[in-house]
Amino acid sequence: MAYKILVLRGDGIGPEVVGEALQVLKLVVRDAPVDLEFKDAPIGGHALDQFGTSLPETTLALAKDSDAILMGAVGGPKWDNPQASDRPERGLLALRKELGLFANLRPVKSVKELLAASPLKPEIVNGVDLVVIRELTGGIYYGKPSEQRQGPGGREAVDTCLYTEAEIERVLRYGFELAQTRRKRLTSVDKANVMSSSRLWREVATRLSAEFKDVHFENQLVDSMAMHLIRRPRDFDVIVAENMFGDILTDEASVLVGSMGLLPSASLGEEVNSAGFRIGLYEPIHGSAPDIAGRDEANPLAAILSAAMLLEHSLGMRAEAEQIQAAVEAVIRDGHRTRDLGGAGPRAVGCKAMGRLVRDHLENLMQAE
Ligand SMILES: NC(=O)c1ccc[n+]([C@@H]2O[C@H](COP(=O)([O-])OP(=O)(O)OC[C@H]3O[C@@H](n4cnc5c(N)ncnc54)[C@H](O)[C@@H]3O)[C@@H](O)[C@H]2O)c1
Repeated sequence: MAYKILVLRGDGIGPEVVGEALQVLKLVVRDAPVDLEFKDAPIGGHALDQFGTSLPETTLALAKDSDAILMGAVGGPKWDNPQASDRPERGLLALRKELGLFANLRPVKSVKELLAASPLKPEIVNGVDLVVIRELTGGIYYGKPSEQRQGPGGREAVDTCLYTEAEIERVLRYGFELAQTRRKRLTSVDKANVMSSSRLWREVATRLSAEFKDVHFENQLVDSMAMHLIRRPRDFDVIVAENMFGDILTDEASVLVGSMGLLPSASLGEEVNSAGFRIGLYEPIHGSAPDIAGRDEANPLAAILSAAMLLEHSLGMRAEAEQIQAAVEAVIRDGHRTRDLGGAGPRAVGCKAMGRLVRDHLENLMQAE
């Protein structure tokens, strides 16, 4: 089988971390009966410079023709003019919308050797293994009206949180299916005591839970969820939330394990690719880190773990994904650290060296099979 992978390296450290992730991807499929065809395309700031738009038509067309997309990050001070009509981040938002990527997954898994990097006590974060699924294309970020206007008592502003039953059901259904492949627990997050859209959300979640009797199900109000996530994160497996609640909870969850340089993400659509799985966009959760770009200091592990998610969720290659995860864990266990993970002075490992270490471990694992 041949699969088309679109590579969007982006700006800043994007090209550096994606470069390492690509080498890991190529290695892990070396002996597998698949061909990965990689194509590069511009997005973000450098696309603005070269083509006058943050999402060129050709990039969008290639994305629509791909089985999966691997991305770095976009943005940087060069393109920060708030008056500009187009900005690097617009390209990414437009791409997600155009591809209908409605489910944003952020797995958060603690690593024993890095417990000290978390702002929380080790006994709270040790053993955390959860996924937050944020609904990505609906809710208050897209509902109309969304405007400032003149009201009877002066200026006023309005935002609208709108969800159709179908939009709620598709993201929760995906959550239940994912929970079935994990520890079989699903927490649905809403604000049903106040918001109508949340009451519909809760109704749909509770109805669907009857279809997934093997999954332990609970509803949580978003305010208490924010507290539970910090106090007892180990109790959670799959957490599903609407767009804005998910936006806030995913950032909160990302600090549990300490460094952004470790956290991958996937944004999945409804459309199925030639492998029979969902088309997805895979990217580290961090930005383009302009402060360290071009210095070989970036941590490539989040990008490498994003490549592992690509194999699992868009190509159905779970064994290969697990090999990458095991190689990353082995490198950390051996004490190798980029600066963001506490690596200091001459002992700090650079981006390229970190990628090489992961590939070395991967080779060993592949030979041991
Ligand atoms: N999805 C995306 O493309 C995305 C996401 C967030 C921010 N951004 C953009 O990135 C630019 C910089 O944003 P920011 O500084 O707020 O966030 P950032 O994530 O780029 O950086 C925050 C801090 O974390 C460090 N850091 C981030 N990733 C790292 C890695 N892999 N290894 C080592 N250190 C790492 C950076 O050096 C910086 O000190 C902005 O233009 C922003 O809009 C893009």
